[in-house]
Amino acid sequence: MKALLHTSRLGKTFGGLKAVQSIDLTVESNQVFSIIGPNGAGKTTLFNCLSGIYTADQGDVYFEGIQITHLRPHQICHLGLARTFQNIRLFPGLTALENVMVGQFHRRSLQPMGILFKSRNYLNEEAVGYEAALELLDFVGLRDAVNTGARNLAYGLQRRLEIARALATSPRILLLDEPAAGMNPNEAAEMVDLIQRLRGRGLAIVLIEHHMKVVMQISDRIMVLDHGETISTGTPEEVRNDPKVIAAYLGKES
Ligand SMILES: Nc1ncnc2c1ncn2[C@@H]1O[C@H](COP(=O)(O)OP(=O)(O)OP(=O)(O)O)[C@@H](O)[C@H]1O
Ligand SMILES: [Mg+2]
Repeated sequence: MKALLHTSRLGKTFGGLKAVQSIDLTVESNQVFSIIGPNGAGKTTLFNCLSGIYTADQGDVYFEGIQITHLRPHQICHLGLARTFQNIRLFPGLTALENVMVGQFHRRSLQPMGILFKSRNYLNEEAVGYEAALELLDFVGLRDAVNTGARNLAYGLQRRLEIARALATSPRILLLDEPAAGMNPNEAAEMVDLIQRLRGRGLAIVLIEHHMKVVMQISDRIMVLDHGETISTGTPEEVRNDPKVIAAYLGKES
């Protein structure tokens, strides 16, 4: 069976800096796969290469066996890979509902003329989209904030809204870049619950996270990066006891 997401010797360089070096990773369907490592280790750069924001300058990325290394972000999203961002990227002037409905757009079948003249198809799709967006907002715990402007939501709720918007693209795999960043232990525990429910929906999750409690609780596998390279991959137990991982963390402040 083909892996859901697979990379082979993936690399990305900025000037003389090897931000990501020769990464081989394999994420299976419905798995929670976490990427950890000190600040500047290359975690977000790796996400950017997987989602098409950056094009890797070495190696390849495969999604369900299809080579996606050189595809554009919207093409990769259309295949079923969605992501959230470390620095939240919402439309601050739109409501929570509108932010989710924007996420649905590329799943619609409509042509511009149909939208312009509000064809019956358009109205049907809009009604279905509205219901689906409400369901997603409910799922992430934003039922009471449907009509709240994104900029007025508390930080933790903005992170949840980003997840709802990513879900609106109907992904098979969701990449979360530090979804519990800046959260207190209670909020982080709620994020663990949300990620577990995402998996319950049949999604695979790739998670970048500094909260070790979160990572150790929910990961099937963990990959540890340092200076752009994989220093360890395994189960939470294996990674926790790996001397190379301990050394990488003790040497830095994270
Ligand atoms: N667009 C860019 N241009 C130049 N250098 C970059 C760029 N993006 C990232 N880098 C560098 O690549 C290295 C890896 O950065 P990256 O953001 O991937 O780390 P990270 O593991 O996500 O760190 P953090 O935990 O702080 O988010 C860093 O040295 C960073 O300064
Ligand atoms: Mg990062």
